[in-house]
Amino acid sequence: MSEKVELLIENCSQALFTGTRDEGHDVSEGVTIAVADGRIVGIGNSDELAGRFKGLTEVDGTGRLLTPGFVDSHTHLVFAGDRSAEFARRCAGASYEEISAAGGGIRASVRATRAASEDELFHLAAQRAVRMLSLGTTTVEVKSGYGLDLDTELRMLRVARRLDEELPLHVLPTFMGAHEFPDEYREDRDGYVDLVCETMIPAVAQEKLALFCDVFCEESVFSPEQSKRVLECGKQAGLKPKIHADELAASGGSTVAAEVGAVSADHLMKTTEENIRALKESNVVPTLLPGTTFFLGKEQYAPARALLNAGCPVAIATDRNPGSCTIESMQFIVGLSCLRMGMTPIEAFRGATENAALALGLSDACGRLAVGLAADLILWECPDPARIVYEFENIIPRTVFVGGRAVFGMQLDRRNR
Ligand code: NIG
Ligand code: FE
Repeated sequence: MSEKVELLIENCSQALFTGTRDEGHDVSEGVTIAVADGRIVGIGNSDELAGRFKGLTEVDGTGRLLTPGFVDSHTHLVFAGDRSAEFARRCAGASYEEISAAGGGIRASVRATRAASEDELFHLAAQRAVRMLSLGTTTVEVKSGYGLDLDTELRMLRVARRLDEELPLHVLPTFMGAHEFPDEYREDRDGYVDLVCETMIPAVAQEKLALFCDVFCEESVFSPEQSKRVLECGKQAGLKPKIHADELAASGGSTVAAEVGAVSADHLMKTTEENIRALKESNVVPTLLPGTTFFLGKEQYAPARALLNAGCPVAIATDRNPGSCTIESMQFIVGLSCLRMGMTPIEAFRGATENAALALGLSDACGRLAVGLAADLILWECPDPARIVYEFENIIPRTVFVGGRAVFGMQLDRRNR
């Protein structure tokens, strides 16, 4: 007698990242997957599994590729306003740093976000999240950090919680009150760090509004000492540390990441050999954001090959935000990682799924195709991962599944039994 399951995808020509992290495969051929209660309950060789399961919905995987859904482990999805005027100024030659120093940049988005209601912020962020879902992102991390005052930071995190509750994709919230110094604290920077540590972090923890705490460690923003103080304080309140490190200059962020035991250090465009060793030794997941390098028109991409050669589990993410990267497509980021950072298509797919899940502490929850993990999946019309990267702006997911439920894409070949 065959076991009844909700969804059965049979005979996928290829599948990526099947099995456990230790004993898994990069690419498997002829794969069948069974889903019940939103989880993967069976996966393996189609011939061996033949007849073992009967699906309420059955899909033919012939000629198709199955991958885990994309995990976008670094975004600033909640904000109001847009910075297209700054973009035009950058196109005419002004730099991101000059615009920020003159009061634009993050602080421009802070003014617009402070003025927006929770509903307005929710509707704006939901549109972005739905577009991401349509492009295969099934888990997304979302940071606060365009409020820089208690009320607006909490409002942004409540919006992140609502996205998780009201949309099919999984949302992991990060408190990032230390994203910039607000206008009213320009002359009292340590005073702002006090506010973050003594008022904001306790309020965020009290309402259980975030899982992570992040800080922008950079020359003109938070110093390594201030960054460390914020992350240690977050840790005490139960928030796992993350850090924006070595984005515009090698400014000590990687060292702070290693010292506080951050789950990830993100950006790393300007990181050094010494930093790479420190990240490896302290098990920090390097998260590279090539969309930002591209969107800022910079030449120097993060050293993905050196990090991979050092044995680091490199993750890649969009960094979707209003100023330094508006890209929402993880598939575009996969393509860029291959073209500009010398990653192979399989390495880039792994960075966008399995390693990104690691950067969010979700290794046992999603990011691979293994029994017990969430059935967050993308079924692609084409069986070859290299071709999907090569045509990264053309081939889109055929069907996106969250918890085994088709949430986007083409009609399934439904056979009801
Ligand atoms: O990750 N680096 C800091 N924060 C964003 C930029 C945010 C903005 O410009 O609004 C980033 O690149
Ligand atoms: Fe960022």
